[in-house]
Amino acid sequence: MATPSLIVPHHVAIVMDGNGRWATKRFLPRIAGHKQGVDSLSRCVRACLERGIAVLTVFAFSSENWNRPFEEVSGLMELLVLSLSREVPNLNASGVRLHFVGDRQRLSEKVQAGLAQAEHLTSGNHRLIFNVCFNYGGRWDIAQAAKKVASSGEPITELALDRAMALAHVPDPDLLIRTGGELRISNFLLWQAAYSELHFSDKLWPEFDEAALDEAIAVFRTRERRFGQTSAQVSGHGQKTTPKAA
Ligand code: IPE
Ligand code: IPE
Ligand code: MG
Repeated sequence: MATPSLIVPHHVAIVMDGNGRWATKRFLPRIAGHKQGVDSLSRCVRACLERGIAVLTVFAFSSENWNRPFEEVSGLMELLVLSLSREVPNLNASGVRLHFVGDRQRLSEKVQAGLAQAEHLTSGNHRLIFNVCFNYGGRWDIAQAAKKVASSGEPITELALDRAMALAHVPDPDLLIRTGGELRISNFLLWQAAYSELHFSDKLWPEFDEAALDEAIAVFRTRERRFGQTSAQVSGHGQKTTPKAA
């Protein structure tokens, strides 16, 4: 469900794109860009904590990223395991609660165990909810939610689907940022981004710093979120909403 416009967005979602290009520009292997991307993500989490953002959701590995060369995919899996052992103690000490969102079945037992352990360790934290979308796709999420609702025998309504989605534990993102200059969603949060404000940054993810985040938040503050109403209604000068039966 959407939250009203806030001074700081309650929920920020990010498509962290541009790691490969960052590395290629420096004549480095693509995995070096992904490693730099993990550092950028740690910095971003710190910045969200400092700014009082309540929920951060990032796209780390898409359902379609399996189609990359074997070397890159296995490098990303190794990097995930390494980053968990390196970063989770700091995240836990900072009051961050981790959730991994996506289809875990295709992940190795070692990766699955690492994810479960990190979630368990941080489950009592409340300062920031940090959703890491890994082997995630918006279409997968809608399909798995529909399957869940259908098997429960409940009628398939928007509310029932919403409650069955993988991000049902948080409100919809207020601000959705994509770095790396591409103007597309690439199968991220197809359901939940219905009313998110979109911000596209040309910065490659490893270069996305506090100033770039602040710029995205500043732009967000200038947006008028109407959720289908008129501008006059939103500013409190318009007429009331039409009753459902009219
Ligand atoms: C995003 O960076 C990270 C993942 C998809 C895993 P990319 O790896 O897509 O970087 P570019 O877009 O090729 O530069
Ligand atoms: C989206 O980036 C996925 C992640 C950031 C994890 P991609 O690089 O995979 O997206 P496309 O292929 O350019 O659309
Ligand atoms: Mg990319």
